Amino acid sequence: MEKIVIKGGISLAGEVQVSGAKNSALPLLFATLLADGRSEICNIPHLRDINTAVKLLRELGAEVSFTADCIQVDATKIRSIEASYDLVKTMRASVLVLGPLLARCGHARVSLPGGCAIGARPINLHLKGLEALGATIKLDHGYVEATAKQLRGAKISLDMPTVGGTENLLMAASLADGETVLENAAREPEIVQLAEALNSMGAKIEGAGTAIIHVQGVEKLQPLKCSVIPDRIEAGTFMIAAAITGGNVLVRGAVQADQEALISKMLEAGVKIYPEADGLRVIGPQQLKPVDVRTGVFPGFPTDMQAQFMALMTKAEGTSRISETVFENRFMHVCELQRMGADIQIDGHSAIIRGNSNLTGAPVMATDLRASASLILAGLAAENTTEVSRIYHLDRGYEKIEKKLAALGADVRREQE
Ligand code: UD1
Repeated sequence: MEKIVIKGGISLAGEVQVSGAKNSALPLLFATLLADGRSEICNIPHLRDINTAVKLLRELGAEVSFTADCIQVDATKIRSIEASYDLVKTMRASVLVLGPLLARCGHARVSLPGGCAIGARPINLHLKGLEALGATIKLDHGYVEATAKQLRGAKISLDMPTVGGTENLLMAASLADGETVLENAAREPEIVQLAEALNSMGAKIEGAGTAIIHVQGVEKLQPLKCSVIPDRIEAGTFMIAAAITGGNVLVRGAVQADQEALISKMLEAGVKIYPEADGLRVIGPQQLKPVDVRTGVFPGFPTDMQAQFMALMTKAEGTSRISETVFENRFMHVCELQRMGADIQIDGHSAIIRGNSNLTGAPVMATDLRASASLILAGLAAENTTEVSRIYHLDRGYEKIEKKLAALGADVRREQE
């Protein structure tokens, strides 16, 4: 197993290029299942989750090839309609094949994901929505079996704006008969990109990016050609890396409109952020100020930035409170940050951080993807050496993070345990 070793205390400086968004690339890859012919998606990040998605597409019968940072998927022949437990447990986003397979083949069998490190994460709203579109859903030995000769458009009101649920339903409704109205839809930039991609395939979707999305079903879709948007969570992680080290970094590919909630909290903390032609310049202050944060669905503060922001707040002068409202168990990084000297107390769904801690390097363990990032950020700001183990979590979602940080001057490297 590998670990990341960081010698902290260096101010980061320079420019870093953000990769394509994992959370956009995954639904786009699965959207290729909706059409005959050869799709091509570019600006694909090199990540473990992308390899898992490719494995799943191949198991379903799609032909997949690669050129540089593009992936070609030919889903003309689909020979299996099953996403196995082995793949779904490795990557929950595998459940996004449910909508496309059902719409294209009339049948899908997908393992239920079960719980994970950050909470229960059910897919009941995906299933309820598909039932409203006319699918019959059965649960069998841990698998969801969905069948529908022809999906029919329907009015669906989501109990909460689930990102994956909105994506599954958009893909299914695109090939349904008639109009679907999706209320309380998720509004994340990744939803907007998926809707635009589906429209470029011939779908008729209006309103993506708002809470009400209209989908006029069509009979057939064309292969997809598109390029993945920059990863706003990776961008946000580098923005915090600059801030926590008192550095000066141009984060190329960071899109201001996708980062408003994070930017406003970072400004409140005393960080300086300037938009430039192709990204955001972030300058960390001498002394950070404490800021309270409450995560929420887009355009709220992203839960995927909560752990990283907590690392930042350990260095602020005073007490801050971070409340997690999206997932119930997303404070696994707290114990590890405490091992580095952070003063954090958990109070229900909130963490109270008494900042200005003198973080000291320690061996720590990554528990999930974004928790791993927060430990690396803390390591950059800590005295001496931090060793982050179980970095397979990190490799699911950050492309060459140690190389990108090293190019900004950080003393960080990957080693065998
Ligand atoms: C996506 C992102 C993930 C991010 C999350 C929230 C991908 C691949 N992953 O995950 O990085 O942290 O959005 O921004 O894009 N819920 C239900 N029933 C459902 C579906 C969801 O109760 O059927 C609940 C979940 O338990 C959770 C909340 O809704 O509490 C949000 O989940 P959701 O938006 O679905 O997240 P994901 O799509 O899994």
